[in-house]
Amino acid sequence: MQRIRELDEHYVASTYRRQPLTLVKGRGMFVEDIQGKRYLDFVGGIAVCSLGHCHPALTKAISTQAKKLMHVSNLYYTQPQAELAALLSRVVPKGIDKFFFCNSGAEAIEGAFKLAIKHTRRQRIISMQGSFHGRTAATVGATWKSNYREPFEAIIPKIFDFVPFDDIAAVERAMGEQTAAVIVEPIQGEGGVNVPSNDYLPGLRKLCDEHNVLLICDEVQTGMGRTGKWFACEHWGVEPDEITMAKALGGGFPIGCLGAMAEVMNSFSPGDHASTFGGNPLACATAKAVIKTMTRLKLPQRAAKIGVYFKRRLDELTDKHGCVREVRGLGLMLAMEISNKQIADAAVAEARDRGFLINCTADKVLRFLPPLIVERKHIDRLIEALDGILTEVEK
Ligand SMILES: Cc1ncc(COP(=O)(O)O)c(C=O)c1O
Repeated sequence: MQRIRELDEHYVASTYRRQPLTLVKGRGMFVEDIQGKRYLDFVGGIAVCSLGHCHPALTKAISTQAKKLMHVSNLYYTQPQAELAALLSRVVPKGIDKFFFCNSGAEAIEGAFKLAIKHTRRQRIISMQGSFHGRTAATVGATWKSNYREPFEAIIPKIFDFVPFDDIAAVERAMGEQTAAVIVEPIQGEGGVNVPSNDYLPGLRKLCDEHNVLLICDEVQTGMGRTGKWFACEHWGVEPDEITMAKALGGGFPIGCLGAMAEVMNSFSPGDHASTFGGNPLACATAKAVIKTMTRLKLPQRAAKIGVYFKRRLDELTDKHGCVREVRGLGLMLAMEISNKQIADAAVAEARDRGFLINCTADKVLRFLPPLIVERKHIDRLIEALDGILTEVEK
């Protein structure tokens, strides 16, 4: 542990605030540290490892494809990329039928912005307060937190108009002649698991239609079954013009994807956008296995059902502990807002000591994003531990 920590601190850029934990193995719901201690994982690589760790269907898909063909170039057709696109078209919201593959969420969103600007020939994008869309120049520009943006102002495009989340009237006021698109996370993730009111997404859709503006749903965190539907916008029956995915699409293997209506995606011509690794055979074979396994195990439906149980159990703690402000979320994207950051941070550390990985976002929001294979017995163990943890940290 000490040696790895020293190597990391010496050689790796200090962009992450790491916890004192070196993880070496994972299986299903559990990860193991270098000392052999096991943890129940309620972080899931931040909504990535939805099939759990090292699912046999994924390790098989990766090793089979690795022996066959790992990488060529987008100069050529490859079977996994074409087949993944066809498979995706069956699970994404209606209307989305063409895909551009890349390597991360931010890259998918950069592509979405370029496409919106090219398609509409307009230059501005409306984004939400509390949003998170990534760390590249354009995506950090669309991200609400000013301390993420300010040191890098020089390279950030000045094309974003921020409006409060869950406020249709504010979006209407911000719409202008140059508005190309509105980007929204159907449920804000890093912003603290904020679920909008039921008329918000449909209202955005209507407003975008009225103004001929594209609606981009950023489903990098909410997508792939996390909230109990394949994509969160489906909870409100909304069909976006563009959708972005990453995280759970590869189940742990890096891949990102921009999906759009063919009419919109066809505004891209050869040379408009590209990525060397985007859609590479290894990543696409893995994502195909993710979709097939999720479909076979009915994981979106499972997330909906077990998420109700998990939320109810978290709610029980609200009544018992004064530091719990609110429990919120949908499916297996759940959060418990704590009265202050100090208590929330202490809860994460105490949980770790007791063998549970949980995450804190937006300063004081404990966030739970377990693999979608989580069982009631795992939830019960966490709730029992959390009861003790909150009692301890409230002292
Ligand atoms: C909603 C959302 N969009 C975009 C991103 C950026 O994705 P990546 O880190 O893969 O670039 C994230 C990452 O947390 C996210 O939650």
